[in-house]
Amino acid sequence: MATLAFETIPHGNPTPADKRAALMADPGFGKVFSDHMVTIRWTPDKGWHEAQVRAREPFRIDPAAAVLHYAQEIFEGMKAYRLPEGGFSLFRPEENARRLNASAERMAMPEVPEELFLAAIEELVKADADWVPGGEGSFYLRPFMFASEAFLGVRPASEYIFCVIGCPVGAYFKGGFKTVSVWISEEYTRAAPGGTGAAKCGGNYAASLSATKEAFANGCDQVVFLDAVERKWIDELGGMNVFFVMDDNTIVTPKLGTILPGITRASVIRLAEEAGYTVKEELYSFDQWQADARSGRMREAFACGTAAVIAGIGTVKYRGGEFAIGNSGDGETTTQLRAKLTGIQRGTAPDAYSWTRKVQA
Ligand code: PLP
Ligand code: COI
Repeated sequence: MATLAFETIPHGNPTPADKRAALMADPGFGKVFSDHMVTIRWTPDKGWHEAQVRAREPFRIDPAAAVLHYAQEIFEGMKAYRLPEGGFSLFRPEENARRLNASAERMAMPEVPEELFLAAIEELVKADADWVPGGEGSFYLRPFMFASEAFLGVRPASEYIFCVIGCPVGAYFKGGFKTVSVWISEEYTRAAPGGTGAAKCGGNYAASLSATKEAFANGCDQVVFLDAVERKWIDELGGMNVFFVMDDNTIVTPKLGTILPGITRASVIRLAEEAGYTVKEELYSFDQWQADARSGRMREAFACGTAAVIAGIGTVKYRGGEFAIGNSGDGETTTQLRAKLTGIQRGTAPDAYSWTRKVQA
């Protein structure tokens, strides 16, 4: 399909350069937003239409819009990086397009053609090029789709809006790029077999919030979910996948199924194998985690995702106590894999896998 033409509606009141610079000085994560957004509408008769790049502003949606009642919503998370030689780089954006469409299928929503998804992302990066930080920062892109049809029957909606917004971001965790602590959620689960765990839908995150609140109340940065059936196997974190590094150079990560198939996860597996590690995607229990950490068999553990990149896990807390991993700081493997990944993402290391896609403003 030929991709839609985007109409650009000029921004009437863009942020002045000095104010933008002040906002970008220490943006944190997801709090500072760029000037524009991309919107595209879908109806059964027209399909995707009315593709616009325009000033970021609140939506006017009907109070009966299906998303507000039945949470028919999906999203993606990806980053653009400012390249040393000029221009920008996107990291494996085709994978985000594919995952969005897998989520769309699970949530009975229309597919967004891959070229249209990529064009929408690039339009926003170009429109908000001045908002893409250099240095350790990046421009976090949040493509999402929601059911905008007004009706209260429970069925797939017949009107949708696809939108992309963006934020200049620094570190995801409060306190900067650091080793994090995690809380094991023994009461709340996130995703059951046959459910939506592998889809990136808002409802999964809504269901994770009580556990996240519990994690924060216990002084932790993130929550770890166990499987919903046996409450025994490690699934993933609230917004990241998890890896365990053993002393014999094997790396274990929970297998796919009820977890989000992370693009960082897939990339880390590839980089780790290339670096000589044996990577096992398998069931790994919380009991085993404790035993391996206490015996010293586990050297390191880390969380990974687009927002967090790769963050070492230093401490694990649960109702019955807590334990440390390795020396509670980022280990050698974590540091090595992060350097390899961020080098490719930021264009400072060769992209042997053709993972990056260049955008010129
Ligand atoms: N798991 C969950 C629940 C997430 O929200 C994310 C973030 O997107 C990830 C894992 C990591 O996925 P990715 O590496 O594609 O960002
Ligand atoms: C991402 O990493 O893109 C996510 O969606 C995770 C979220 C916790 C910000």
